[in-house]
Amino acid sequence: MMRIWVLWLFCSQTYEFDFRRYPDLGNFSGAVDVDLSAPIHRVDPRFLSVTIDASLAADERFMFLLRSPKLRTLAKALTPAFLRFGGTRQDFMVFSPQKSHQVQPGVSAAQSCEELELALWLEEQLKKKWIQQQEVLLREDLLKNYTTVQFTESTVDLLHSFTNCSGMDLIFGLNALLRTADNIWNSSNARMLLQYCESRQYRMSWELGNEPNSFEKKAGIRVDGNQLGQDFSHLREIMSQSKLYRDAALYGPDVGQPRGHRVDVLQGFLQSGAAAVDACTWHHYYVNGRDTSLEDFVDPDVLDTLALKTNEVLEEVNAASPGKKVWLGETSSAYGGGAVGLSDTFAAGFMWLDKLGLGAQLGLDVVMRQVFVGSGSYHLVDNNLDPLPDYWLSVLYKKLVGPEVLKIEVSSNFTQSRKVRLYLHCANKQSYRSGAVTFISMNLSKKPARISVPGLVSSSTVEAFVLQSEQPGEEGLYSRSVKLNGDLLKMVDDKTLPDLEGARLPPAEHLQLPAHSLAFFVLADAGAAACQ
Ligand SMILES: *[C@@H]1O[C@H](CO)[C@@H](O)[C@H](O)[C@H]1NC(C)=O
Ligand SMILES: *[C@@H]1O[C@H](CO)[C@@H](O)[C@H](O)[C@H]1NC(C)=O
Ligand SMILES: *[C@@H]1O[C@H](CO)[C@@H](O)[C@H](O)[C@H]1NC(C)=O
Ligand SMILES: *[C@@H]1O[C@H](CO)[C@@H](O)[C@H](O)[C@H]1NC(C)=O
Ligand SMILES: *[C@@H]1O[C@H](CO)[C@@H](O)[C@H](O)[C@H]1NC(C)=O
Ligand SMILES: *[C@@H]1O[C@H](CO)[C@@H](O)[C@H](O)[C@H]1NC(C)=O
Repeated sequence: MMRIWVLWLFCSQTYEFDFRRYPDLGNFSGAVDVDLSAPIHRVDPRFLSVTIDASLAADERFMFLLRSPKLRTLAKALTPAFLRFGGTRQDFMVFSPQKSHQVQPGVSAAQSCEELELALWLEEQLKKKWIQQQEVLLREDLLKNYTTVQFTESTVDLLHSFTNCSGMDLIFGLNALLRTADNIWNSSNARMLLQYCESRQYRMSWELGNEPNSFEKKAGIRVDGNQLGQDFSHLREIMSQSKLYRDAALYGPDVGQPRGHRVDVLQGFLQSGAAAVDACTWHHYYVNGRDTSLEDFVDPDVLDTLALKTNEVLEEVNAASPGKKVWLGETSSAYGGGAVGLSDTFAAGFMWLDKLGLGAQLGLDVVMRQVFVGSGSYHLVDNNLDPLPDYWLSVLYKKLVGPEVLKIEVSSNFTQSRKVRLYLHCANKQSYRSGAVTFISMNLSKKPARISVPGLVSSSTVEAFVLQSEQPGEEGLYSRSVKLNGDLLKMVDDKTLPDLEGARLPPAEHLQLPAHSLAFFVLADAGAAACQ
């Protein structure tokens, strides 16, 4: 264990980024304990994963957006990752194969990835229509009146080719609300879909049902956890009869965050269904999108609520099925499609990066961001298929952060210091030599300060990746653009991302975090035993 004194200097010195003058708050110090000898957890290499909401398939033609070369370029940069296709509408979707779409066993559908590109004119048309479609979807959500959607081979073909060509791993959420008179899952439609996917040799994994705790509200059907667990065992049985899906993964129950009877659903599920799943999934949102504000997005108390909920779920799972992996199967800043004007801005980065840092530290194995593209305002890629600040943050995370989680504890008596949040991982070994570590940090504060990590920093090359809004001040938090080390991030062209280069700090420098910033600091020569 190494104790590092971190000095937060609150002063009115004019830094480059310090656009205002602040009253001198004096200096104070807090302590940070780090342990570089061994990781406390090792998360899945696909820890940062993404979702596409099933609402994209409510009108199947929008699935063709997944053929956009730009979207595929953006997806590639986030690999390795899972892509989960699911959400409320998955439980209203029925597979209705088209007769004309002949399945020829053994004959691969494979066209090359390039041949599958969407024409630009069609992309433009779909993007325009998607704006109107979103209003239709929103109305359904508000009324909780979901119409059944028939989907064809086309939806799975497009999903599979999107994930396969971008290098992501597809997880498909099956409809759990197809039920018999005895309220047992009716698997006949799922069987048909699995058969089709097997005939195409689609490697993928599966889920069953989305937020079963609210089935009653959405569909007037109550399914208890124990029955749901049996339904999962039934699905596992079906999978075991398939050559292709015998060893494929199954995840569930995608229950909402613990609140009232949702714990009962999880408990019941674990009793009868834990053995059927490869990871136990639950969903988390910090706030209600229709009832939140900028203050929530940068409030350490709000960010800390994740720990409470996570510990509750981990406790349940560890009691019922020790060692079972726990995943955030769907998660974002705000539920109800996100918070308009916040969930797609720079401000959303604090909730996203803190979730990644804290989630890994607490022992979550995978975190799937709702959504990659489409649905609501919490997307990483907007309706024009342009990347938003959280997209760039995610790409940087992928590039810099490895799966080994190291211990770091910040202790200080000053409330102000709670606004500086720190996490520590081994650096990604694809990008850095072994022994390197990456600090993940964010500064929720309006006032300037810096971290000095004397022992560690002075002896190592430090590469800084500091993300700030392209505009200064609180207004900047609402921005949909972001700067890396001062340079605005944007795609070079539809098939090229910019190089995301760090700024090399000379040895013995302080780690400086401007106000309202998100940052990664890579210590390339840290020589951490945990990261060899
Ligand atoms: C704050 O820290 C700086 C640099 O270490 C030092 O020069 C200054 O005297 C300190 N100020 C106070 C009020 O302690
Ligand atoms: C999956 O992608 C690879 C290239 O990455 C390609 O060769 C293969 O044909 C694709 N498979 C399918 C079923 O599309
Ligand atoms: C639900 O939507 C359908 C079709 O959009 C409509 O016909 C029906 O009246 C609606 N039901 C309620 C209760 O609003
Ligand atoms: C299951 O669903 C299929 C297709 O809708 C239907 O034909 C079958 O009768 C159902 N089975 C039961 C037991 O409800
Ligand atoms: C916090 O305050 C307590 C007593 O008030 C003291 O014992 C402790 O050392 C302080 N911790 C730090 C990190 O300053
Ligand atoms: C956080 O930002 C404030 C405002 O710019 C700054 O005073 C403070 O030093 C920063 N904190 C750290 C740890 O860099």
